[in-house]
Amino acid sequence: MTVRTSICDLLGIDHPIVGFTPSEHVAAAISRAGGLGVLGCVRFNDAGSLDAVLNWMDANTSGRPYGVDVVMPAKVPAEGSQVDLAALIPAGHRDFVDQTLLRLGVPPLPEDERARDGVLGWLHSVARAQVEAALSHPVKLIANALGSPPDDVIASAHDRGISVAALAGKAEHAARHVSRGVDIVVAQGYEAGGHTGEIASMVLIPEVVDAVGAGVPVLAAGGIGSGRQIAAALSLGAVGVWMGSFWLTTQEYGMLSPLPALRDALLSASSSDTVRSRIYSGKPARLLKNRWTDAWEEPGAPEPLPMPLQNLLVSDAHQRLMHSGDPGVVAMPVGQIVGRMNAVRPVAEVMASLLAELDETLTRLGQLR
Ligand SMILES: Cc1cc2nc3c(=O)[nH]c(=O)nc-3n(C[C@H](O)[C@H](O)[C@H](O)COP(=O)(O)O)c2cc1C
Repeated sequence: MTVRTSICDLLGIDHPIVGFTPSEHVAAAISRAGGLGVLGCVRFNDAGSLDAVLNWMDANTSGRPYGVDVVMPAKVPAEGSQVDLAALIPAGHRDFVDQTLLRLGVPPLPEDERARDGVLGWLHSVARAQVEAALSHPVKLIANALGSPPDDVIASAHDRGISVAALAGKAEHAARHVSRGVDIVVAQGYEAGGHTGEIASMVLIPEVVDAVGAGVPVLAAGGIGSGRQIAAALSLGAVGVWMGSFWLTTQEYGMLSPLPALRDALLSASSSDTVRSRIYSGKPARLLKNRWTDAWEEPGAPEPLPMPLQNLLVSDAHQRLMHSGDPGVVAMPVGQIVGRMNAVRPVAEVMASLLAELDETLTRLGQLR
């Protein structure tokens, strides 16, 4: 039996499953399978490259809805060019990164990988250009990682009939998003991959549902990788789920990042193998724990810099770590659900097993009465 909730009608989807992913291949496959694929835009350094990928999404989603996710603070920070910002990074931090890479035996990037810029999508100006590019495509949802987007972004989305979502790690943040005009709140618990707060999903989701009131759809995020967990999210009052980590071991993700070391690290990690740290972006984010994250916790390691400086500091290092071929050092956001990511499967198969287990769980619960 198909489970439908209010989010299905709002977003025009068959199943209450929204999938965040940096990969257009994964996002399109989620949408084709009846969920909503949401493409993370932070990896695009300019609007042109995002626009080209959104053209590809338009051609590969079989007319099914999809969304985009940007990293945009509500308050516009003072921001210079990449060169101005780079000058703010202390030499001691650069030395620490260089020495750590040397100590971990991480080689320089191969010649053909060297030309890439650092990740500029963390910059407000770049995120704004990404929103402009997205608005010229038939996107159904714009989500913001760092809270409510600026008022004019919400207004432009609403003018075009696009829903706006924002992530929240606390009930008061969720209520604030709604007061600013956000349509959908993603309640993201402590166990989630990427930027995350300190409250576990079990406590957070009902708090957020109660704080925003019955009319506002809440999606549950953090730790979801099975139909039983989707059923739990629905029980806690969410109208659907927002999953991120679980797509990293799909076949389609391998098309974006065909790196055996990353795949092996994810497949072998247990739910204890993550750490919440500021070393990825400057804000607390849950990452795969390994020798690179451990190095930042050793005595004498520098304090991570604020956003966006920390990401500028480590973006070259991230590429080197990812291409090192060593599963023990890959730099990767992932949540505690990594312990259940034990096989590489196509997105359609993952969706089908989530839905089958959701159905079985609801039947089992129904038999308790
Ligand atoms: C590799 C990775 C990158 C992420 N990057 C972003 C991002 O750019 N923007 C965002 O809103 N959330 C980002 N997230 C968080 C997800 O949107 C989602 O909230 C989270 O993964 C849900 O928890 P889960 O990892 O337990 O499924 C990221 C998560 C992962 C695993």
